[in-house]
Amino acid sequence: MTLAIQTSITELVNTLNEYNHQYYVLDEPTVPDAEYDRLLLSLKELEAANPGYILPNSPSQKVGGVALKAFTQVEHKLPMLSLDNAFNAGDMQAFDKRNVERLMDKQILTYCCEPKLDGLAVSLMYQDGLLVQAATRGDGKIGEDITENVKTIRCIPLQLRGELNKDYPSVLEARGEVFLPTDGFERLNQAQKAAGNKMFANPRNAAAGSLRQLDSKITAARGLAFYAYSIGYIEDAENLLSDSHYGRMVQLKQLGLPMNPEVAKVEGIDACLTYYQGIADKRNALSYEIDGVVFKIDSLPEQNKLGFVAKAPRWAIAHKFPAQEEMTILEEVEFQVGRTGAVTPVARLAPVFVGGVTVSNATLHNADEINRLGVKVGDSVVIRRAGDVIPQIVSVVLNRRPETAKEIRFPECCPVCSSDLEQIEGEAVIRCGAGLFCQAQLKESLKHFVSRKALNVDGLGDKLIDALVDKKMVKTPADLFRLDAFDVACMDRMGQKSAAKLIEALEKAKSTTLAKFVYGLGIREVGEATALNLALHFLTLDKIMQAKEESLLEVPDVGNIVAMHLNKFFAEAHNQAVITDLLALGINWPVIEPVASEDLVLADKTFVLTGTLNNLGRNDAKAKLQSLGAKVAGSVSAKTDCLVAGEKAGSKLTKAQSLGVTIWTEDDMLAFFAKHE
Ligand code: IVH
Repeated sequence: MTLAIQTSITELVNTLNEYNHQYYVLDEPTVPDAEYDRLLLSLKELEAANPGYILPNSPSQKVGGVALKAFTQVEHKLPMLSLDNAFNAGDMQAFDKRNVERLMDKQILTYCCEPKLDGLAVSLMYQDGLLVQAATRGDGKIGEDITENVKTIRCIPLQLRGELNKDYPSVLEARGEVFLPTDGFERLNQAQKAAGNKMFANPRNAAAGSLRQLDSKITAARGLAFYAYSIGYIEDAENLLSDSHYGRMVQLKQLGLPMNPEVAKVEGIDACLTYYQGIADKRNALSYEIDGVVFKIDSLPEQNKLGFVAKAPRWAIAHKFPAQEEMTILEEVEFQVGRTGAVTPVARLAPVFVGGVTVSNATLHNADEINRLGVKVGDSVVIRRAGDVIPQIVSVVLNRRPETAKEIRFPECCPVCSSDLEQIEGEAVIRCGAGLFCQAQLKESLKHFVSRKALNVDGLGDKLIDALVDKKMVKTPADLFRLDAFDVACMDRMGQKSAAKLIEALEKAKSTTLAKFVYGLGIREVGEATALNLALHFLTLDKIMQAKEESLLEVPDVGNIVAMHLNKFFAEAHNQAVITDLLALGINWPVIEPVASEDLVLADKTFVLTGTLNNLGRNDAKAKLQSLGAKVAGSVSAKTDCLVAGEKAGSKLTKAQSLGVTIWTEDDMLAFFAKHE
């Protein structure tokens, strides 16, 4: 009996570790998450009934254990070094030149290139294949013992794969970076916010905060990840390890330690610079944050010849991306009124170069955000601009607050039209309720109405719209179609030619589609996809306008709130009048043919699109799928039937694979469309 239990436990542990390895190291899951969870549960039940048989490499040991009182210190057997930085191609060329000169007999050096993860350096000590100690870098000589926390990181093996003294030496120290993937970071910050706790400024701080938890259960819940980037201390390793750094990374991967799939070996400095650019280009598509690229001389004998200076090796360098965080002064706060009346505080900043561009504005979102940050005008603030994201104020540097710092006061009435402001309970947004009578909302509504995805009027820019409204030449969207070339030609920066062109573009824009027209109306919560769904479902504008809440709810993606906004919009006499006016002025669209139900070949199927689609835009692909009856969702779940994975597909693809979801390439989708023209 006991032998049978022992065997079951061992088998379960081995199977689960194999699944973990497939998922985290090979990036090729073979079973859905649910199956993994089911097996883990059986293992835990068996272990609970037979605690004497819990194996040291059991995945159940990854949930965290008893809380510590303090971290103990660990002396590193070999110092954990840092890296010199390069900030441009010139620095990189100088680095290569120094290496070439010192190594004398070689002109073209082989480099191993790796993304520089923005996390925390960690040392993992394996004794006879078992993880016995994990430590932070600390000051490079002495770090902290974080073994219990590191054991909870799912992709870090508690036991190396392979055979002792054949595949790995008796003592092997793997080093690498522990990090929090971007989606986990966002989830953590949402939870921190909801609980009224301090939010983390960036994934690196969040990873550090998660690792330095005395209670490893908290660490376990944070979803940390790890990529190995070097081998440290070893014992009894004769001839076991490669003398190429890249080769050693591949060996670590074979032993079960995750290796970043972007790691590559290249020849010469030019190829390093090309690699840097390639990583910079795909930076936003990666599922984790990086702050540069690390280049290492690949040959270990060459590394040894070059040696170290102070705290950094001569044979490696970090080519950094431009900083994403900088400090500047908050000079003023202005309040902007958006299309839906939302009043948004906008920070005017002393210009600062961050994330590769000069930033002088940042959004402050709403009053809650201002309170959360505790920011005042005149404060020094930390600005973050990651990728193409709108710059954010992440924190206030309180010890630099001048005595003259001024409280930010939210306006009591609309800063544009002086109407009362309203705040719906439970919503953070404060709105001006004056609708199109508020000039700001009118301007923004017009900009939306003529935008590319709506009526797509060429040559009608924001400034011209502002001027047309200020001069009272346009009071409703319909007025646009009553403009005459002579009036327009008299406007600033316009001439007869551009005026004639605009009138022509307006004429052309009159022929549109029902979906684009409905989207262009700017009804709250009605985006492009919802507008298309409404058009496909009701086929005519009349039917959409008259639809009662129950029938609106039958439309995919339409819930109570959207239905409420639709009803409210179409019930307003002013909106009805503008629509009648627009139709009378000749706005038109082709009649939509009802689709026979047998043509809805994808009825009840849920699709998700991810990655870059090269032939069809994301929106067109979505529209086409919907026209065949499919639902198109934003995230992969057990309900997803098919994932269309374009180029550079990332975490959604991995998740879909792990769930056993059907995966199409863009070509598969196009072939399907061709069959169902
Ligand atoms: S190698 C002697 N490789 O950057 C070489 N470091 O500035 C030591 N880092 O403390 C580090 N990604 O935390 C190396 N692929 C990578 C890295 C990396 C991130 C971090 C690491 C280190 C710091 C040095």
